[in-house]
Amino acid sequence: MSKTENRGTQRAVFGSRFAAIAATVGSAVGLGNIWRFPYEAGAHGGGAFVLCYLIFAFLIGVPVLIAEFVMGRGTRSNVLGAYRKLDPHHPWYWAGYMGIVGSMLILGFYTVVAGWTLEYCIESLFGMLDFSTESAGHDQFVKLTHGWHPVIWTVVFALCNFVILLRGVSKGIERLSNIMMPVLFVILLVFCVHSFFLPGFEEGCSFLFKPDFSKLTPSTLLGALGQAFFSLSLGLGCMITYASYFTEKTRLAQTAVTTMILDSAVAILSGIIIFPAVFSFGLSPSAGPTLVFEVLPNIFYRMAGGGIWSTLFFLLLFIASLTSTISLSEISISFFTEEKKLGRKRSTALSCGITLIISLLCALSMGPWQNLTLFGKNLFDLLDYVASNIIMPLGGMICSIFVGWCIERRFISDQLTDNGRNRFIWLRPLVFCLRWICPAAIFIIFLDSIGAI
Ligand code: PFF
Repeated sequence: MSKTENRGTQRAVFGSRFAAIAATVGSAVGLGNIWRFPYEAGAHGGGAFVLCYLIFAFLIGVPVLIAEFVMGRGTRSNVLGAYRKLDPHHPWYWAGYMGIVGSMLILGFYTVVAGWTLEYCIESLFGMLDFSTESAGHDQFVKLTHGWHPVIWTVVFALCNFVILLRGVSKGIERLSNIMMPVLFVILLVFCVHSFFLPGFEEGCSFLFKPDFSKLTPSTLLGALGQAFFSLSLGLGCMITYASYFTEKTRLAQTAVTTMILDSAVAILSGIIIFPAVFSFGLSPSAGPTLVFEVLPNIFYRMAGGGIWSTLFFLLLFIASLTSTISLSEISISFFTEEKKLGRKRSTALSCGITLIISLLCALSMGPWQNLTLFGKNLFDLLDYVASNIIMPLGGMICSIFVGWCIERRFISDQLTDNGRNRFIWLRPLVFCLRWICPAAIFIIFLDSIGAI
């Protein structure tokens, strides 16, 4: 941890370039890569989806990520403060409020799913998961995600999140990311090597990597674009907040590209882990959101040492979820600390308290309150829908338009060249993407997500 003088104010920073990248990648890599990506790819026919996802992550995700970085490090502020500092005369800062609310809504359902991962990890560690028959995986999932189970595990996960956050930006986040991100990669690689020896390896890989362009429908394109946004933690101001802790030495564009590459690599690796297993055991790749929780443990339990594999896999998911929930919480904590002057501990308690209430309501909506619905969705599904399909695309679009059109080009180039110390030759294409390509593409996702097209 280190504190540096930034324009007269003491503010924590990520100590090294590696720490900045580890924290950013830690935020990006989460349930979105390991749980959501495989089931989305499976549901959209594999290769064509994966290709589109990679193109969107690079062409749209990277520019928006750079835009958030420029805002964050350029202002050294929380999401709301960043908009306000850059344009005090217009109400752009409402996008900041939207990001804060969005982050709490995402935390609401994300914590519940993260709680499942912890429950699966612990239960499988103690050999308490039963996957002895075909339907056992499904039965187990139903048992674990209904009744009071989710409530208990949601609280346990939320407590882990709270304790780490309480230890502060650099101590908590930096240390966790520095240790856990490399562990995550190692465990993923071990799993990939294991996958290589499965009979369905070739079939799984060709499903994942051979694009079948007949499957390229508008819904595949839009699904891939949405996945790129969710996976790169864009649109809520999360990356604005993290970039506000970068040092002057952190190269923004390089960090953005590295984050995109590592984030996509984790998604692809989890595809390589999951699809060969799916094909080896004659299961369906389009099992949907239950793919990881229902199908994989079933597979692990038919493997030699399955209990260990299962425990490791869910531990991996738990770690990945934790580094993402930390970044989601940091959006509101930095807001309470800087805008409301509450102090780190109180801000953390307030942020975690509010999100715990939302998460508990979500967890209950998966169990005892299952029948309470609004617009045909229970609270869990409703929050997921509103946050992921409306707030994130809208926030990403506003950020892209704001940086593309409203911020002085000089300010952007100063950030990207580190005040003229380095060269950055991509300024024009970047601004072009931010002005035109990103808003247009995000607008299309948005229309799709509200069912307008
Ligand atoms: N990118 C995370 C994942 O893939 O699981 C989820 C996420 C984290 C979304 C932080 C938004 C955010 F601000």
